[in-house]
Amino acid sequence: MNRNLNIVVLAAGKGTRLGVDCPKPLLPFCESTLVDQVLNQVKKLKTSLDCQIFLSVVVGHQASKVQSYLQSKYQEGSIEFILQKEQLGTGHAIQEFLAQTKFEADEVMVLCADTPLITDTSLSDLSTFKSSKNLKAAGLSFDAENPFGYGRIIRDSEKVGISIIEEKDASDIQRKISEVNSGIYLIDKKYLIEKTSNLKSNNKSNEFYLTDVMDMNEQCDFISVKDGEKIFLGVNTMVQLAQAEKHQRHTINTKHLENGVRLIDPETTYIGEDVVISSGVTIHPNVHLRGQTTIKENAIIETGTIITNSTIKALVTIFPYSVIDDSVIEAESAIGPFARIRPGSNIGEKCKIGNFVETKKVNLSSGVKVSHLSYVGDAEVGEGSNIGCG
Ligand code: UD1
Ligand code: MG
Repeated sequence: MNRNLNIVVLAAGKGTRLGVDCPKPLLPFCESTLVDQVLNQVKKLKTSLDCQIFLSVVVGHQASKVQSYLQSKYQEGSIEFILQKEQLGTGHAIQEFLAQTKFEADEVMVLCADTPLITDTSLSDLSTFKSSKNLKAAGLSFDAENPFGYGRIIRDSEKVGISIIEEKDASDIQRKISEVNSGIYLIDKKYLIEKTSNLKSNNKSNEFYLTDVMDMNEQCDFISVKDGEKIFLGVNTMVQLAQAEKHQRHTINTKHLENGVRLIDPETTYIGEDVVISSGVTIHPNVHLRGQTTIKENAIIETGTIITNSTIKALVTIFPYSVIDDSVIEAESAIGPFARIRPGSNIGEKCKIGNFVETKKVNLSSGVKVSHLSYVGDAEVGEGSNIGCG
């Protein structure tokens, strides 16, 4: 391993177009946040690329909130934080990174905290593209059906000295270009230092654009990625956040359908990334499965149910509108409708928990019935017991 790589995640922007107070990197995305999604792919890349990786995150707008969130979540020292006090553009963010980083590396990979659907394979393809074409700087682009808001890639045969033009600065003709910039680049550090020292902010936004570094007259090029409109969807608005979450759900749900899970309406089924479901399971609409949840063979989860960090064994039926947290339901039991199974509940085999029943920290042996309107907490209940109403 004789190659060193800086990965810089840009997370300092104001997120003005979202219209919310929450810093954009910390926006909830499925079960995590936008920035966590990007950092997960960085983690995977560490194993697929044969090089030493140093990770830096540029923070600025609500910096202390973003930084303390990441510090609480990731191993101490695993992220170098770069402070961009004023947010003067993506180019300025990189200038700050170059001025402050303590890491030495030959190349810099730039990622944005607002592209939550990136994949480690697209990032390693970028690396292959750069080395195979012997480039100083390589970027990922894609063909967009709706290019609005993205920088357009200008592949002009004339030497115009510029390769990306932002929406605001583009002419009507340039706005019709469908190949757009993903905001992800791999750049020789030497070249990046040289180019960023000359950036100008004479554009409509009065910002220092990192895009101006990509000069196609200087061994810089873009590789266009198939399906990039989804993979590199940039989240600048709540509409785009909803679209990105929808794409994520579609990817997860398709995987389960292909594995033989029956989703009656995949459009309204919400399954977390880490949930494990065996074949033969049926899931009705408006079900949420979250965290470290496992659903075993032929279980049926009916509408409106929310299950978090729990194991549901084979042939269990969960009737509608039940809420189950941190619990285990053994095989062939039936839960609900309208049951609340709170943390630490171990419901034995062939048990029946009926409507308006709440349990917490209980061990129910097999065959126990609690059919309606009861609370059972901090209890051991023997085999075959029948607990009546109230
Ligand atoms: C940027 C690109 C555009 C590309 C698009 C892809 C520029 C000038 N434009 O536009 O070509 O098509 O991404 O999604 O780079 N940030 C900072 N400091 C700043 C400004 C931004 O850290 O001063 C961060 C933001 O937090 C964000 C990322 O940089 O994570 C991109 O900024 P954003 O404002 O979203 O740029 P776009 O308009 O999406
Ligand atoms: Mg953006």
